[in-house]
Amino acid sequence: MRRLQLFEFNEAVWLPATLRALITDYLVCLTRMTGAFELRLRLLAQALRHSSQPQRIIDLCSGSGGPWHHLADRLDRRTPEPIEIVLTDLYPETAEHQQCPPGVSLHDQPLDATDSEARLAGLQTLFNAFHQFPPPQAKAVLARAVAQGEPIAIMELLQRRWQMLPLIILTPLMVLLLTPWIRPFRWWRLALTYLLPLAPLLITWDSLVSWLRCYRPEELLELSGQIDASQFHWEAGSYWYRGAPVTYLVGYPINECDPADAAGAPAAPTANR
Ligand SMILES: C[S@@+](CC[C@H](N)C(=O)[O-])C[C@H]1O[C@@H](n2cnc3c(N)ncnc32)[C@H](O)[C@@H]1O
Repeated sequence: MRRLQLFEFNEAVWLPATLRALITDYLVCLTRMTGAFELRLRLLAQALRHSSQPQRIIDLCSGSGGPWHHLADRLDRRTPEPIEIVLTDLYPETAEHQQCPPGVSLHDQPLDATDSEARLAGLQTLFNAFHQFPPPQAKAVLARAVAQGEPIAIMELLQRRWQMLPLIILTPLMVLLLTPWIRPFRWWRLALTYLLPLAPLLITWDSLVSWLRCYRPEELLELSGQIDASQFHWEAGSYWYRGAPVTYLVGYPINECDPADAAGAPAAPTANR
């Protein structure tokens, strides 16, 4: 399956915040229900340890907070000190719409994830967002983390494989079923789902395009391989968890003085589960 760079509604500058929230709030609900990213918490904790600020995570393209609503507490239990997570986005959420769990805060100014000048100290994370960027921009995001010597973790609730097609076809039904559980509760969400079905339309289109744009593990490693990152360890893979597909890439700087790093594994895609 060839990667196709098409348009998604959630990244359109003209999309009203209410309609963008329909998409990003749904993603929060979906990631919480599948819990699919939890399977790589160990890897996130490991990457965090290799940061210049091992208690700090800068989440890029955060939307409504993605998995951090349920993942923050779980990751926190794996780290020696309490962690601090900063949510950022090109179109940041307002504090009125988005209630953050403890340890998570909103950066209220627009932050472009592809801005090569942005200084981001801490583990840089992108959930369900890296697929948006065409290869030159995607490479620039990785290159910035490498240049700053900071770890980076990319995770998508996607796999660019034909096996995912049934999930894409079922998306409108999933939206209709999950909407009552999406938080925060809003009457307009119910109206825009069951009366005027804008939410199913926008979410289905964005899911379809995300699927077609998602990088495969070998493509993610190829992108990281094009950067001068000899002091970085890269790990990419894909797996299924409770019926949900995941693709990921994690990279962190290797400290040769650390015996665990000196033993270092070679960068290679992990096998599909
Ligand atoms: C599909 S949503 C993912 C949201 C969240 N990470 C999640 O997992 O639910 C993609 C987000 O990326 C944001 N975005 C798009 N282009 C961006 C850019 N260049 N820099 C930062 N954020 C961007 C959009 O506003 C949107 O909130």
